[in-house]
Amino acid sequence: MPVTHPNDSRTTTTTLPTDAELVLKVIPMPADCNANGDIFGGWVMAQVDLAGAVLPARYVQGRIATVAVNEFVFKQPVKVGDILSFFSRIARIGNTSITVTVEVFAERIRQQGSYLKVTQANITYVAIDDNGQPKTIERKASAA
Ligand SMILES: CC(C)(COP(=O)(O)OP(=O)(O)OC[C@H]1O[C@@H](n2cnc3c(N)ncnc32)[C@H](O)[C@@H]1OP(=O)(O)O)[C@@H](O)C(=O)NCCC(=O)NCCS
Repeated sequence: MPVTHPNDSRTTTTTLPTDAELVLKVIPMPADCNANGDIFGGWVMAQVDLAGAVLPARYVQGRIATVAVNEFVFKQPVKVGDILSFFSRIARIGNTSITVTVEVFAERIRQQGSYLKVTQANITYVAIDDNGQPKTIERKASAA
């Protein structure tokens, strides 16, 4: 069933990805708002950075650092009280870096069980050693 919000005419709902892992769920609060009353994009970016780090950190079993955000699209506004679900998949494993695609889906507070895709980002993390220098990633047979 389509979702409508009093201040949002867009109604495109979607299904959750089956080829990605749920790495974070969080509900934004009023303190996270911008001047429009929607959730501040910088807050969403911080959550995506945290969520995106989960799979690379698990893969390398060590320290990682965010080196680049090569795509960040805010498709629909995030509202106070939305239940946000962050799904991540590994897109590429390089010599020292892992790139993930993170998709964020919102359930509006009165439309739970219906999902709106609000954000998508591609983020690259680098495995680093104790001196903060890039470290070669040991490839595993079971992952991308
Ligand atoms: C991450 C860091 C250690 C990388 O050091 P570096 O000397 O720049 O490393 P390199 O140029 O050898 O690149 C390392 C990897 O990152 C990748 N990379 C670098 N810039 C990139 C970009 N703009 N987009 C995608 N990948 C990038 C490289 O392709 C390489 O990957 P590969 O080995 O898999 O091919 C260093 O840049 C750093 O400390 N940055 C600050 C990290 C940080 O504080 N992040 C928090 C955000 S404030």
